[in-house]
Amino acid sequence: MRVEGFRVRVVERIRLPSLEERLLAIREAGFNTFLLKADDVFLDMLTDSGVNAMTVEQLAGMVSAQDAYAGSNTYEELARAVEEVLGFKYTLPVHQGRAAEHLVAKTLVRPGSFVVTNFHFTTTRAHVELAGGALVELPIPEALDTSSEHPFKGNMDAARLEEFLARNRERTAFVRVEALANLLGGQPVSMENIKLVKEICERYGVPLVVDGSMIDWNSYFVKERELGSWPLGKIIKEFASHADVFYMSARKAGSVRGGLLATNNREFYEKIAVLLPVFEGFLSYGGMSVKEIAALAVGLRQLAEEELIGSEIELIKNGVRELDRAGVPVVKPPGGLGIHVDALKFLENVPRNRYPAGALTTAFYIASGIRGMERGAISNDRLPDGREEYPALELMRLAFPRKTYLRNHVEYLVDRLVWLYENRDVVKGLEWVYEPPVLRFFLGRLRDVGNWSQTLADNYRREFGEQ
Ligand code: F0G
Repeated sequence: MRVEGFRVRVVERIRLPSLEERLLAIREAGFNTFLLKADDVFLDMLTDSGVNAMTVEQLAGMVSAQDAYAGSNTYEELARAVEEVLGFKYTLPVHQGRAAEHLVAKTLVRPGSFVVTNFHFTTTRAHVELAGGALVELPIPEALDTSSEHPFKGNMDAARLEEFLARNRERTAFVRVEALANLLGGQPVSMENIKLVKEICERYGVPLVVDGSMIDWNSYFVKERELGSWPLGKIIKEFASHADVFYMSARKAGSVRGGLLATNNREFYEKIAVLLPVFEGFLSYGGMSVKEIAALAVGLRQLAEEELIGSEIELIKNGVRELDRAGVPVVKPPGGLGIHVDALKFLENVPRNRYPAGALTTAFYIASGIRGMERGAISNDRLPDGREEYPALELMRLAFPRKTYLRNHVEYLVDRLVWLYENRDVVKGLEWVYEPPVLRFFLGRLRDVGNWSQTLADNYRREFGEQ
């Protein structure tokens, strides 16, 4: 039995808004959970980004951070932590993960280039495409089957990578592996796979870029499913050692607000170092507050502390197990990041052009006050000719920020989601009211086809009353 090796000493009150308040809030938010006010949310499971609980040591580090425009010793401390924990000589701070993606794309991608990846992330794709490149996804086939129990559904299909590079090596800017594939449902990449991918990249002379935004959870799974006898710290360092360029959103595994790029390649470092003061900030802060840099240095060292890592994964496992038992279609095996619900199976009668995952996410907010995120067609922009490009997976994600929610929260989540599943026929889908041209999921506004939100609320009231 695994028990948390920490306790919670600071608490924040949360409030479940009434049914009427929830209905009003989601309508005012244009059926887009990004546009809800946090005060109207009970359990905020939109993301794990920038909302993780911090440790006492991280908070203490923030107090003694050295504020200097240039040459802060707090930056030196971060660089030491990066070298010790991840094994890279050069560290470049950036304001968040997508800033690293912007600089990597600007430096390596040319018009007509390919970037090959195990699976895309929204901001990664946007930056590769803005630089004139195209993203090529090579997940293993099991990854797209939400019921497959393959233990490493984040793996890249090595045979297809080899084939692709044999034909397109000249046009391939880099290969990118996302450690814990976000949009596949938080599914991990094995050590065996990253090693194999690196060997192939070396053979074809193509750099390997690792997105380590969730390397904590990925490493937890590698330990659980592949290298049980290895200490977590050794797993993290070995995994990162395959990267020519490593970057992360420190808002996730780092439990702060910021990001970083790291490498042992001096030439690459110098190219980015020139761009950093133009787009981010001087080399020793890169757009981050020094307080966050100090907390990140501590956070990185704590990634290797087994008693601090992975309690969310145990909560996710419990939730997935119970939902699965009740017949609710969830992504299996349980991954990191959150509970992922297969909206194509949950709302079988909602056609793809009515956005099942978006409809499910907003219906679930009405039924629970829980804010999840649509990770399906709405999160994918249209093709240049205006046609929809439906992604393989259409998911509702209920993210678990690190060390934030408790077991009873999960029981509540399961209870309300099972109720919604029983009432799923009411939910009809969404249509656009305002559709932005890029990353439309952030600011887009929609409406519920045929006013189903009212019928859902009426059913809910009969069962649970106003709460
Ligand atoms: N890479 C991955 C794998 C991510 O999950 C994210 C962000 C980024 C890059 C971009 O980092 O937000 O700091 O600019 N993921 C968040 C999420 C937003 O909710 O999954 P960022």
